[in-house]
Amino acid sequence: MGREKHFTIAEVARHAQHDDIYLIYENSVYDVTRFLDEHPGGVEVINDYAGKDATEAFDEVGHSKEAHQQLEELLLGRLDQASAATATAARSIKKKANKAAFNPAILYSFAIATGATAMAGYWYFQVRV
Ligand code: HEM
Repeated sequence: MGREKHFTIAEVARHAQHDDIYLIYENSVYDVTRFLDEHPGGVEVINDYAGKDATEAFDEVGHSKEAHQQLEELLLGRLDQASAATATAARSIKKKANKAAFNPAILYSFAIATGATAMAGYWYFQVRV
């Protein structure tokens, strides 16, 4: 293994033009410029993450093992220590925020409230008839 090149988040962000696109996945930096036109998911989605952290979007799609292997072929280097810590923290905050939006407790209480209303209505009409 040779010496790895290290980047800051700001350096990666400078590569966001269509003929020069880097993106971050799990604190590694990839040059996707050549790959852009070959992407089965289209140019547009990759452009959206040009110069940014695409970890969450990439994982959400459920990319195949082949896609992960392709990604490794585009590897340029890693984020430096400070940027890696920042990127990891940013991903974890985003994950927590998403989780909060889909908080199952809210869904449960909604289901219980709906059920209770239905039962109350049923009881009300049973008694009246
Ligand atoms: C350099 C990074 C990427 C590589 C190497 C890559 C590779 C691939 C590959 C090989 C496929 C075909 C299906 C599969 O094997 O899983 C695919 C599909 C797809 N990719 Fe990516 N991808 C990358 C980044 C992204 C990003 C950042 C997004 C953003 C959301 C994305 C969205 C999609 C979508 C939506 C499909 C589904 C296309 C379909 O099934 O019609 N990809 N990608």
